[in-house]
Amino acid sequence: MEEKYLSAQMVLKKAGQEQLLDCYDILPKEKQENLLNEILTTDFAQIAKLYEKSKQEISFKEAKIEPIAYVEKAKMSKEDYEKYDKIGSKIIQEGKYAVVIMAGGQGTRLGHDAPKGTYDLGLASHKSIFELLCDTLKEAEQKYGVYVPWYVMTSRQNNKDTIDFFEKNNYFGYPKGKVMFFIQGEQPIVDENGKLMLDENGEINQAADGHGGIFVAMRKSGVIYDMKTKGVEWAFICGVDNVLAKMVDSVFVGLATDKKVLAAGKSVVKAYPEEKVGVFCKKNGRPSVIEYSEISKEMAEQREPNGELTFGESHILCNLFHIDAIDDMSKDKLPYHIAHKKIKYMDKNGNIVKPEKPNAYKFETFLFDAFESLEDMAIMRVKREEEFAPVKNAEGVDSPETARKLYNDFHHIK
Ligand code: UD1
Repeated sequence: MEEKYLSAQMVLKKAGQEQLLDCYDILPKEKQENLLNEILTTDFAQIAKLYEKSKQEISFKEAKIEPIAYVEKAKMSKEDYEKYDKIGSKIIQEGKYAVVIMAGGQGTRLGHDAPKGTYDLGLASHKSIFELLCDTLKEAEQKYGVYVPWYVMTSRQNNKDTIDFFEKNNYFGYPKGKVMFFIQGEQPIVDENGKLMLDENGEINQAADGHGGIFVAMRKSGVIYDMKTKGVEWAFICGVDNVLAKMVDSVFVGLATDKKVLAAGKSVVKAYPEEKVGVFCKKNGRPSVIEYSEISKEMAEQREPNGELTFGESHILCNLFHIDAIDDMSKDKLPYHIAHKKIKYMDKNGNIVKPEKPNAYKFETFLFDAFESLEDMAIMRVKREEEFAPVKNAEGVDSPETARKLYNDFHHIK
């Protein structure tokens, strides 16, 4: 142990992270051991690089950004619609289609102290978000005669609570054998001076590494293998926070197959320039999404002669990937984006500090950065009132109240 401690001390000195051992003496024995192990397996050089990046401004100046072509579902010709529906239905019926829900986020904005999918939206049925999403899979079973395999991505923090919730609710009536959970990766957090911190358990403070880690997590946890074994060709991947997500859409699958692309994304028309949604675009000729936190005011406000926003195809985090694309994407690391956040930590005296304002940087990868590895993808514009009811904030825009209304309107519930 003494030897390990000295090695850890040396590693930290080299990395300029000596503060990580400040509380060592007051930690219980097993936590001391755990901390030393963490220190000896952390990639400090990578963290230092990420911290340096936090000081740079994001600029798209070097990149050529253009609007992306899309197909509007409501305006498809009858022949096209029927053709895509037929192709997609066959794929679903043959068991070549799966759904993945990303539920590793913490839902801090919603203020719900449990996995976001467990949230009761306040509908008359009091169904949780997970159950509402599961309803769409049950409907698909009625329509296509197959139970679509359902994968749920969790994080280390919420994996157990998520599984317990599914168990307690008897998997909402879905066959348990069709559901598989997997855990996403993590990335250490640094304070404003680039220093790592301890969390309340005396461990290195880490957070989920963003949903871009999904492809690597799918490989490491055996999801890709499982999909291939089952003969899955297409996987629809969406966030947990859209209660109108249409997860099994034959027309969407048919469109992607017919266009011979390896991925497709659903879009809705951006409601107003400041709306907190990413927008699809072409970046240096490749499909991409510019996130709302990174788009310039000029670009967000730019309009076409017909009055529509130039970058108005909102990314609703409802995307479809061919298994070959997932396989490829699982081999590459995506770039990290930086978020300034309020992070609870253990100070050098062992006290837990809950900051009032942002005090640290979180590093996250975004799934849609993987689009740039593709030659092209199909974008299908759908109707907001039919497919997009996000639950993000406790109140106001994108809140349970707005989502409830959208859900009830769509289902004609008074
Ligand atoms: C997201 C999209 C944005 C899109 C909008 C639509 C990102 C970065 N941006 O914004 O382009 O227009 O949704 O509603 O996603 N999640 C994980 N693990 C993580 C982080 C997130 O599973 O490490 C899941 C969350 O549980 C959630 C989803 O990803 O289901 C979206 O994450 P969130 O951070 O809330 O994204 P938004 O900022 O709302």
